[in-house]
Amino acid sequence: MSDDTLTQQTDLDVGTPAVETTAEIAARLEASPPLLVADHLDVTYVTEDGEIPACRDVNFTLHRGEILGIAGESASGKSTLLNALSRLQRPPAVTSGGSVTFHPTDGGEPLELTAMNDEQLRRHRWTSLSIVMQSAMASLNPVIKLGVQFTDVIREHEPDVTKAQARERAGALLEMVGIPRHRLSAFPFQLSGGMQQRALIALSLACHPDVVFMDEPTTAVDVIMQRQILSQILQLQGRLGFAIVFITHDLSLLMEISDRIAIMYAGRFVEMGMPEQIHGAALHPYTRGLRRSFPPLSEPIRRLEGIPGTPPDLLDLPTGCSFVPRCPLATEICRVERPELREVDGGLAACHHASATPDPREERTDA
Ligand SMILES: Nc1ncnc2c1ncn2[C@@H]1O[C@H](COP(=O)(O)OP(=O)(O)OP(=O)(O)O)[C@@H](O)[C@H]1O
Ligand SMILES: [Mg+2]
Repeated sequence: MSDDTLTQQTDLDVGTPAVETTAEIAARLEASPPLLVADHLDVTYVTEDGEIPACRDVNFTLHRGEILGIAGESASGKSTLLNALSRLQRPPAVTSGGSVTFHPTDGGEPLELTAMNDEQLRRHRWTSLSIVMQSAMASLNPVIKLGVQFTDVIREHEPDVTKAQARERAGALLEMVGIPRHRLSAFPFQLSGGMQQRALIALSLACHPDVVFMDEPTTAVDVIMQRQILSQILQLQGRLGFAIVFITHDLSLLMEISDRIAIMYAGRFVEMGMPEQIHGAALHPYTRGLRRSFPPLSEPIRRLEGIPGTPPDLLDLPTGCSFVPRCPLATEICRVERPELREVDGGLAACHHASATPDPREERTDA
């Protein structure tokens, strides 16, 4: 995309993205080539206490322009997975199995991300793969003015771009997230928390990445700012066409923005489906529990029901299904045999009792 395109787009009206039906989303994804393929991905923390299997057998294909949402409680392995996908992974985490393949949009040879060396990583960081973390202040450099941070990133990857052109692109991106371009002269600490987060999102797009990994990008801001940022992300995504892997514990939020949703529990995908299915016909009792914990904003106010119990200790996982200790539907087979992710009623679920019809035993009476 040229700088001209970005500048012109700044002047476009900010419209509400068209609402697609599930069939339309499925058809769009079907027609989009694969961008990122995770194949039996395992991530392990090698610690003195033992090897922690924080991410196990994760499989998915992210298509160009797709928004994949990943939800799960705290410690379910969301950040571990995202760090492995984005190559932000640091010891003691190691990718202990499987692969992540990136398919360049210019038609170049597929790249095995887990095997990229530093030089390849430097070349693809920002331009192919970009990242937005939860804390903007931890990501932005506090002692460098915003404009310089943008122009440094742009000119490092596109040496032919002049300083003036880079600044113009930076200003256009800032305006796209609702920040006046004169704030390019500000230091990050001179912006509000919400503005910092939006500036970070703009910065992540500075070199036109193909996929942006977002780890709870709106958790640190209030609900009103959260909605504003989400709608800006969607508008930017609609205009620029990048794919997003978005992780959060808030399932209701994901249902509003995602093309597909994966539910993570104890390091594994336990369900995957389109938002409509996750909303109205979830297959896994854990997904239904998460849904009850985060009811959609559109639903009437009612008692908030969580999921009883806590996630398992990853160093002492049950033999069969990890959800057994908290599952009202658990039977003998669940205790002895780990369920694989399989097709059920048009979605994917890893549960011996997967069904789109909730069981009355799932309704808590003690909440
Ligand atoms: N540096 C580390 N060393 C050892 N174990 C770790 C490390 N980082 C994470 N873990 C373990 O890996 C598991 C998954 O953690 P992770 O941070 O990926 O969860 P998460 O789903 O992102 O949680 P949250 O919603 O709280 O951010 C947890 O059991 C955690 O204790
Ligand atoms: Mg996390």
